[in-house]
Amino acid sequence: MRIEGSRIAVLGGRTGLLGQALACAFDNAGALTFPLSRQDCDVLDPMSVEQWLDKNDPDLLVNATGYTQVDLAEDEPEKAFALNGTVPPLLATLAARRAIPFVHYSTDFVFNGRKRTPYTEYDEPDASSVYGISKADGERGLLKLGYKRTLIIRISWLFGPGRTNFVKKILGLADAHENLTVVDDQTGSPSYAPDIAENTLRLLEKDATGLFHLANSGATSWHGLASTAVALADKACTVSPVPTTAYPTKATRPPYSVLDLSKFTRTTGLTPRPWEDALRQYVVDDLGLGA
Ligand SMILES: NC(=O)c1ccc[n+]([C@@H]2O[C@H](COP(=O)([O-])OP(=O)(O)OC[C@H]3O[C@@H](n4cnc5c(N)ncnc54)[C@H](OP(=O)(O)O)[C@@H]3O)[C@@H](O)[C@H]2O)c1
Repeated sequence: MRIEGSRIAVLGGRTGLLGQALACAFDNAGALTFPLSRQDCDVLDPMSVEQWLDKNDPDLLVNATGYTQVDLAEDEPEKAFALNGTVPPLLATLAARRAIPFVHYSTDFVFNGRKRTPYTEYDEPDASSVYGISKADGERGLLKLGYKRTLIIRISWLFGPGRTNFVKKILGLADAHENLTVVDDQTGSPSYAPDIAENTLRLLEKDATGLFHLANSGATSWHGLASTAVALADKACTVSPVPTTAYPTKATRPPYSVLDLSKFTRTTGLTPRPWEDALRQYVVDDLGLGA
């Protein structure tokens, strides 16, 4: 589709980490962007979404909402399943009625993490947490609905401006501590929200539909991500590796969830830049730290 001049609704675009980056990227590409908050449109109330769509007549509906509190989801499964499982196919139904494309985001946490090579779009979800199971439920609902103009993008380990995230938290902690300990036996693909947003536009420009994996290139552990961020920010703090068992959490996370990006590259001809380059942009340019 042509982004320039299109009317684009971004649910979660007002306050969400990814949603804000998407709204910015669509804006920069010359779209008439509607970044929506839950006050504009509560996705748990499909009537409110329908009314908004009737009034504003967008050419594309993007769902960047979600129940994203991975540990809390273990105690609030009904909330997680409502937002992550039930809502996506309802939104796709509304998009289908208008014959406009629908974009939805899912997660690497749909995988159990027992593989040792990057996960492809052909690998079967088998989540270990309520959050992961609820996100897989949303994907299944969309696939069952079968609306052909649906694009589902699995992303992972998101960081970027606009909302707190793992990197921001680590940099805050590094100001208050001489040493931090961070888990080094979980491996994944960090994703810079503005890069995910830009690369979503590249998929839309190719009229891509179906399931795609998207992240920055490369892989690391939470320790690798934290220690690189602290070094880039020039903080006087050491970051030591510890096993997952040192930080018991309610939700079980996949020990390995690196995403294979080759379908994205085949479709767009592009390779996302390495996570280290994107992290430098976030720490140095967005946060104004370090060099
Ligand atoms: N963060 C990650 O590391 C990560 C990794 C993989 C996949 N993902 C997926 O990427 C997507 C975006 O994640 P994110 O980290 O950007 O999420 P986020 O920062 O937590 O933002 C979620 C957005 O959804 C909005 N929202 C929640 N309930 C709503 C409702 N009932 N009606 C309307 N809006 C509602 C929130 O509004 P309020 O601010 O008002 O709550 C917020 O704007 C999600 O599908 C998530 O599962 C994220």
